[in-house]
Amino acid sequence: MKRDCSGFDIAPWELRWCGLDLDALHRTESIFALSNGHIGLRGSFEEGEPVGKPGTYLNGFYEKREFPYAEGGYGYPGDGQTMVNVTDGKIIRLLVEDEPLDMRYGKAVEHERVLDFRSGTLRRTTVWTSPTGRNVRINSERLVSFTDRALAAIRYEVEPLDGDMDLVIQSDLLANEPVPTQAGDPRLAAVLDRPLVSDFSAARDFSAVLAHHTRRSGLRMAAGMHHELSVTETPRCDIHAEDDLARLTVAVDVAQGDKLCLTKYLAYGWSSRRSTPALRAQVDAALAAGLETGWDELLTRQRQYLDNFWEHADIEIDGDPELQQAVRFAMFHVLQAGARGETRAIPAKGLTGPGYDGHAFWDTETFVLPVLMYTNPIAAGDALRWRHATLDQARQRAHELGQPGAMFPWRSINGEEGSGYWPTGTAAVHVNADIADAVVRYLAATGDEQFETECGVELLVETARLWAGLGHFDAAGAFRIDRVTGPDEYSALADNNAYTNLMAQQNLHEAAEACVRRPEIARRLRVEDAEIAAWRDAAKRMALPYNSDLGVHEQSEGCTRHARWDFAATPPEKYPLLLNYHYFDLYRKQVVKQADLTLAMYLRPEMFTPEQKARNFEYYEALTVRDSSLSACPQSVLAAEVGHLGLAYAYFGEAALTDLHDLHRNVSNGLHIASLAGTWICCVGGFGGMRTSGGRLCFAPRLPGELDRLAFRIIWRDSRIAVEITRETATYRLLSGASLTLRHHGEPFELTAAPVTLAIPELPVKPAPALPEGRAPYDRRQARNSGTKP
Ligand code: BGC
Repeated sequence: MKRDCSGFDIAPWELRWCGLDLDALHRTESIFALSNGHIGLRGSFEEGEPVGKPGTYLNGFYEKREFPYAEGGYGYPGDGQTMVNVTDGKIIRLLVEDEPLDMRYGKAVEHERVLDFRSGTLRRTTVWTSPTGRNVRINSERLVSFTDRALAAIRYEVEPLDGDMDLVIQSDLLANEPVPTQAGDPRLAAVLDRPLVSDFSAARDFSAVLAHHTRRSGLRMAAGMHHELSVTETPRCDIHAEDDLARLTVAVDVAQGDKLCLTKYLAYGWSSRRSTPALRAQVDAALAAGLETGWDELLTRQRQYLDNFWEHADIEIDGDPELQQAVRFAMFHVLQAGARGETRAIPAKGLTGPGYDGHAFWDTETFVLPVLMYTNPIAAGDALRWRHATLDQARQRAHELGQPGAMFPWRSINGEEGSGYWPTGTAAVHVNADIADAVVRYLAATGDEQFETECGVELLVETARLWAGLGHFDAAGAFRIDRVTGPDEYSALADNNAYTNLMAQQNLHEAAEACVRRPEIARRLRVEDAEIAAWRDAAKRMALPYNSDLGVHEQSEGCTRHARWDFAATPPEKYPLLLNYHYFDLYRKQVVKQADLTLAMYLRPEMFTPEQKARNFEYYEALTVRDSSLSACPQSVLAAEVGHLGLAYAYFGEAALTDLHDLHRNVSNGLHIASLAGTWICCVGGFGGMRTSGGRLCFAPRLPGELDRLAFRIIWRDSRIAVEITRETATYRLLSGASLTLRHHGEPFELTAAPVTLAIPELPVKPAPALPEGRAPYDRRQARNSGTKP
């Protein structure tokens, strides 16, 4: 088995880690996290310890905390929200002849864990020699059910290897478990001190329930567990519950050749409205349903769900097994983040860790939904419905800031602004146009009329109203949007950020179109003809800063005149710059944290000529340091478009391995879901050249020399399409649904039942653009050769 330099074996459909490495626990817990978008379990050991960061999360379940401003100001949000580490049901402690199984002691003779992308489970095999020399084998497998949203389950099997053994198992529900504190990085979560207050606890036979509420956010939750046991001897069992702990204890003599097998079913429910008895009833019911289904059937359903997903979403890569695995790992986690959120947000870390306090950002609309809408459109629609459900808070926020329409939060769990005042946070109003962009893309991809009438038009209208209020016409007649922050967080409060303006322009235009298409909704939203005309006018005359001396668009007005960052004088250990330099310094210089204008060229491709794209790309490449994981993907896509295929491939590798190789050294706080989604975008938008401007589905495929073949599938309206790319040709197949007109490198063609194979035009070789000193893309070969474990 080939192993990559970060410790994982390379295999197409699974991620296997062999051997025990306690220092790697933090990061493997994120990587091995299981989730269905509603419940998230970090991949910690069943024994509870040793642990990097324990973590059990329920999407949307948070506590409020006061922002500690040194000096407040009007409109500064008073409270933030932090995702709560809820009652931990993963814990199954084992005592072998009185000796607690703790991997820090004794010896792990064998130890491996496997995340299986097709079964949707995390499996573990451990052969452990206790400090007193007894040997046991532990096999465990766990899942968070995609089909039964409130359920998770663990099968835990213990086998004595050297004679009869006294075994004791303690299976817990544990609330308010201690979470290690960390400091020094603003991207970490606030640690809440014992956030759960007990409301109720009960235990009987093999089941227990604990119910709690939060002090300030007023949310209630319940967690329940039920067990099935299989062992030859009759075990002695006891169950009890107190405020923060419920425990089933099983003591039994197990003969060599026999096994003790425990199946633990877990159910979770939470609500801001339902009472504790109602939540208890909900978890009781979920447990009853889980038991009725049974472990084997839960596994079968999980497998079927994933078979169906992969049939529509798989990407095949020939020529690079490491990236093949990374792409499937990425898609598996993107699915886990969004599958069953059901009108809840998709947080930047999914439910894999506490980073960014569990908040959702623009990452969802700009990176994650554009993947889900072509692979699992229902999940994409649900996430947009969450945004719609928070419209009232967004309207209120706009009102508070003296603006019309709606102003969505930079970061949030519950729809309220969760960013303390921060120039690169609350001023990053582009999130509103990003939401509108996702609405437009989603409608083009799905034709979901119900969504359009119930949510889509209203989202477009209220965000367009915001832009009409935020901008103004200058003396020369241009529509300007001043003092906002674009995607690049190393510049802030800039005038006419090109990305923001272009996305706002599309937002205004699409809102006007939607009102014409749906006059009845426009009337309900009190949109007058004059308002539509004003949106069209603003869109038409939107400012787009351009430096004609340099022949490039400006990321924001005047930015090309700023001093350039001294990259040569910045040593590698000073990255990310935000942890080592004051923003005051960063904001004043030409240094780009993450793709900004480059991203605009991907999302609004029709607004730039090929020559402009090439020049702009080159200019901003020399400034972009990729201190955000949201950067490698758009840089890869644009590199592929303008003809730097080698560079595109390198950025693709970086995006794909961001978490597996812990390139940002913070995977312990959770996965970078946008970067994982970006891996798909690199393949489909980059090497597949897929664009959907004007609602037309276009491809411009091109493979880098390192790959022999790339194949992907997408869902477009009611059709399923497969695209297979080799160096010379691309073959398009209609797998099901109506025939349709596609474009291949600009040329339209009809895709009907018969596959269509078309030649890929040759690409002139271009010199690679200069990059900031020391900021070349992740060098996989060097990492492999030096065997560096991040
Ligand atoms: C990026 C933002 C992103 C956030 C959450 C930051 O580092 O600069 O663009 O939304 O992380 O992923």
